[in-house]
Amino acid sequence: MRNWNDDPYTKRARKENFEARSVYKLEEIDKRERIFAGVKTVLDLGAAPGSWTQYCLQKLSKTDGKVVAVDISPIQVQDPRLVFLHQPIEEVDLSPHIGNGKVDLVISDMAPNTTGIHDRDVALSFELASLAFNTCEKHLKLGGTFVVKLFMGDSFEEFHKLLKENFSPVRLLRPDSTRKHSREIFFIGKGFKPKAQK
Ligand SMILES: C[S@@+](CC[C@H](N)C(=O)[O-])C[C@H]1O[C@@H](n2cnc3c(N)ncnc32)[C@H](O)[C@@H]1O
Repeated sequence: MRNWNDDPYTKRARKENFEARSVYKLEEIDKRERIFAGVKTVLDLGAAPGSWTQYCLQKLSKTDGKVVAVDISPIQVQDPRLVFLHQPIEEVDLSPHIGNGKVDLVISDMAPNTTGIHDRDVALSFELASLAFNTCEKHLKLGGTFVVKLFMGDSFEEFHKLLKENFSPVRLLRPDSTRKHSREIFFIGKGFKPKAQK
């Protein structure tokens, strides 16, 4: 077993009071793509243990910012601007928490429990990324931004095409803090314009 306690990002996260080292992936995505510009409301999918949620709360306005976070695992983060829904994305009803308006940014770091069977893990990751996209269709405002994780594999081209049909531009990023053996990649879609409305 590898000892992740020696990992510099893990040490830094502990020192800076973040729940997980994943925060540095979102930080890099943000530094490169400025995903929080003008953002007031965020949907954070696959939020546990909560480091992306913490980062969002730091980036949002202290008065009218809002994060709606979803996960099957609990999070410890507490903030008056945070609504945490302890449910699977497949079952959660976000509408009562978003109201009539829509969100400015959807971020999904959702990942399946890996089985070690490559094709199976890639398929599960594709399912979660597709559910995150469906959430954008319902709750992301026109012109909004979508950040989503996918395990590299057969479904890459199909997912990339789907995003290019609904966002412009679409960029790909593999943050420096991604573990070397990891197959994950992030898509950043901006300027949401659903295909159906084009
Ligand atoms: C890599 S972790 C997210 C880390 C988080 N972004 C952070 O910074 O703390 C992936 C998360 O996806 C969640 N997840 C997996 N399947 C899910 C589902 N069907 N619905 C909601 N969350 C799910 C897992 O419970 C896990 O907490």
